[in-house]
Amino acid sequence: MARPTYYVTTPIYYVNDAPHIGHAYTTLACDVLARFKRLDGFDVKFLTGTDEHGQKVAESARAAGSDPKTFTDRVSQNFRDLAEVMNFTNDDFIRTTETRHAIACQDLWRRLDERGQIYLGTYAGWYSVRDEAYYAESELIEGPDGKRRAPSGADVQWVEEPSYFFRLSEWGDRLLEMYAERPESVLPAGRRNEVLSFIRGGLNDLSISRTSFDWGVPVPGDDAHIMYVWLDALTNYITAVGFPKADANEYATYWPADLHMVGKDILRFHAVYWPAFLMAAGLEPAQRVFAHGWWTNEGEKISKSLGNIIDPLAIVDRYGLDPVRYFLLREVPFGNDGDFSHRATVNRINGDLANDFGNLVQRVLSMINRNCAARVPEPGTLGEADLALLSSAHGLLEAVRDSIDVQAFHEALEIIWRVIRAANGYVDRQAPWTLRTSEPERMATVLYVLAEVIRHLAIITQPFMPGSAGRILDQIAVGADERDFSRLGPSGAISAGAALPKPEGVFPRFADD
Ligand code: MSP
Repeated sequence: MARPTYYVTTPIYYVNDAPHIGHAYTTLACDVLARFKRLDGFDVKFLTGTDEHGQKVAESARAAGSDPKTFTDRVSQNFRDLAEVMNFTNDDFIRTTETRHAIACQDLWRRLDERGQIYLGTYAGWYSVRDEAYYAESELIEGPDGKRRAPSGADVQWVEEPSYFFRLSEWGDRLLEMYAERPESVLPAGRRNEVLSFIRGGLNDLSISRTSFDWGVPVPGDDAHIMYVWLDALTNYITAVGFPKADANEYATYWPADLHMVGKDILRFHAVYWPAFLMAAGLEPAQRVFAHGWWTNEGEKISKSLGNIIDPLAIVDRYGLDPVRYFLLREVPFGNDGDFSHRATVNRINGDLANDFGNLVQRVLSMINRNCAARVPEPGTLGEADLALLSSAHGLLEAVRDSIDVQAFHEALEIIWRVIRAANGYVDRQAPWTLRTSEPERMATVLYVLAEVIRHLAIITQPFMPGSAGRILDQIAVGADERDFSRLGPSGAISAGAALPKPEGVFPRFADD
């Protein structure tokens, strides 16, 4: 039987600048989902990449004294490097300057055109280069200097140029129907309400081409125009599965995508424009868009002008990769905004990783090493406390899966940590070190139960902390082919008698100053 599929995408990142924590965060969330689904038996496609056209990138290239091609080649590579450092397992890395992508964009354009969804006019209105977005006069706000600004605070400029338009105004009712039928296709629910009220406010036709510069995909049949960068960028999600080839196996297999992960600032593009483009072209919209929140740095909005950008490479260097991966997904309920601070990072790392998880593993493995001839001990009859702890470990997958399926990473980790804390309580109560001479069999049973619980904990934390979880699994002699989720539960139980290597600490502790 064919395995169920799971197609998850990150936004593609503008190559105007070096990657920062926001980029790492979005892709990390997708990486955890992709890893989780693979271990859970899915055929996964995980896509990320770079958004390389448009006015913003063209201007950044000019400012760097470079032509756009050389510039985008260089900056795009930084995002590939980040993926490497963060241990991301994307299956593809798309660049919008690739030929496969121009083909897909032009095909989508032709389909829209053939269906009467495009007409030529003139755009006269406000545009923000930073947001690469058109704004209605009524949406603008007054900045501190009295100048008009985009709702995001970005500068806007008045633009007047010939432009093709997409008949977005015709799609409002269809979008509202779709969201009424499938409310879970925008999460969190609060964000869905923002989308609905934007649609209910009435949609205007959307300008989808530019003529005042040429860094983009040419409009088929009219070389004076290039496509609006968001139409170009959104199309990446179907380019990467082989669109427009009718026989493209990947398209048939993976489309519609299960999840477009995005930040809250770009929800409108994904939950209004993109499904409208797709439906208008006769294609299916994605199953879900999840909009996560934004990070601040020690309480301050992150911005280049404030000079407080958080470099993911620097924090990984300081704290180690897995602790950073853990912190980002545990500290803030996914979907909310969150504040990055060194104090909070150290607290989480020392409290949850070094004390809770690290100590559990370290204590149990060193007792086995010292008292059980470094072999998984043979259990005797299991008592009530043993069975209760084992059953909480056996129940992990189902509970964690439910949270992961709604992208509640913080909740998934909290569920796992409840078992870690229960296991630590069990160690304290059973006090196996006191049983060594008086009741060696009971000690063996307690340590066996704990080794089995640790096996569950390490298997289920792999998506979040692949390196550390892998090292724990090595230390309890769980083979590489015994680490997927089908091994969770009583049937995959750890083998008594297996020889274990000398235990080594997995989670370092940091000075909390
Ligand atoms: N190129 C567009 C996306 C096109 S997708 C078809 C874009 N790129 S971006 O590089 O500006 O932003 C990418 C992602 O980073 C967005 O999801 C955005 O929300 C996220 N973040 C940028 N700053 C952030 C924080 N400070 N915190 C969390 N995420 C943030 O938009």
